[in-house]
Order: sequence, then C-alpha cells, then structure tokens
Amino acid sequence: MNREYTANPVLETTRLFLRELSSEADRDFIARLLAHPEVMRYWPQPLTREEADAWIEKQLGRYERDGCGYWLVSLRETGEPVGQAGVMMIEIDDVIKPGLGYIIDFSAWGNGYATEAAAACVSYAFNTLGSDHIVAPIRPANAASARVAEKVGMIRDKTTMYAGLEHLIYSVKR
Ligand SMILES: CC(C)(COP(=O)(O)OP(=O)(O)OC[C@H]1O[C@@H](n2cnc3c(N)ncnc32)[C@H](O)[C@@H]1OP(=O)(O)O)[C@@H](O)C(=O)NCCC(=O)NCCS
Repeated sequence: MNREYTANPVLETTRLFLRELSSEADRDFIARLLAHPEVMRYWPQPLTREEADAWIEKQLGRYERDGCGYWLVSLRETGEPVGQAGVMMIEIDDVIKPGLGYIIDFSAWGNGYATEAAAACVSYAFNTLGSDHIVAPIRPANAASARVAEKVGMIRDKTTMYAGLEHLIYSVKR
C-alpha cells in the first residue's frame, strides 16, 4: 500500500480514492500524465514540466478558493495513482458553473475508472456543494470522454468556445 497516495481522501468509491494533490510524488505523477501525447490528444499539445507545475498550482488555488478542483485519483487496493478527476468552477459563456473533469493515465484506460470517479464527483457537486447542475466541456472528437459523460447521466447541451477551442457542453441536473 502506497500510503503517500491514500492520505485524507475527499471522496471514496468502491475502487478509488480522490484526494487533494500535495506531495512531490503527486507533482511527478501529474507531470508524467500531462506530458503523454495520447492523454493530451485533445489539448493543443502535451504539457511541459513547467506547465504541469502551473496546472498543479492552479488546482491548489482552487482548493483554497472553492474547496474543490482536480483531485488525484488512486487505487484503494495498492495506492497507485491512476489519474485525476474533480469538480472545478469554470466559466462557460460568461457564467461560472461547477464543471466536471477526468484524466486517466494511458496505462489504466478501459477499466471504468473515469466513470467511477466522475460519478462520485457528480454526487459531490449535488450533495456537498449543493449545485443544481454540473457541466463538462468536451472536444467534439473526444468520443471516449463523451461516453463517460453519458454514463454518469449527462446529455449534450450545446456547442461553444471554451479555453479558446470548440467544445460540446454536456450537463446533468440534480
Ligand atoms: C476519457 C478518459 C478519461 C476515459 O477514461 P477510462 O477510465 O478509460 O474510462 P472508462 O473506462 O470509465 O469508460 C470509457 C468508455 O468510453 C468508451 N470508449 C473508449 N474509447 C472510445 C472511443 N474511441 N470511442 C467511443 N467510445 C470509447 C469505452 O468503451 C467506455 O464505454 P463503455 O463502458 O460503454 O464500454 C480517458 O480516455 C482519458 O484520460 N483521455 C484523455 C484525457 C481526456 O480526454 N479527458 C477528458 C477531457 S473532457
């Protein structure tokens, strides 16, 4: 059991812990995750180490400001980190809304981890934050991500520009 990855989970599911990013080991894992060309296929490009550090700083700021953000996802059984998922306040067409995000390590795809983590995040938005809906901006070609959104009950709402790129906006109401 890798205790470093299992301390103080915000959310627990059958197989996963979700918790705030904190350690140097977390930074190394996130930097590797976000440098992977397949994982980052729908972003403009994979992130450099410097950009990954800035990404982590952004999450730390979100935890402080909003109480949530991208959390680290690790396996309960071994403590191994397998990705990140979370709830984050995002701006869609000039309105701030709770958004859902999930990014799973390439070697762990296809095990249902994104769906399991995403379902816990949707419940968190409704039951802990008291949100009445949650959205997920998804690039039009990202069929795997759209499938995860559908599996947690989201439906396609509209197409809009987000982070400077065309996105489909999926959403689910409480
Ligand atoms: C999207 C992503 C998070 C899915 O992670 P995962 O743990 O493999 O997801 P799950 O196993 O829970 O479910 C994946 C679903 O997508 C389906 N799927 C996978 N690839 C697909 C594809 N190319 N086209 C259509 N569906 C696809 C799977 O069959 C599965 O659906 P099913 O259970 O009905 O068979 C992962 O591919 C990833 O990290 N991608 C890169 C980052 C990213 O794009 N994140 C989302 C940003 S909006």
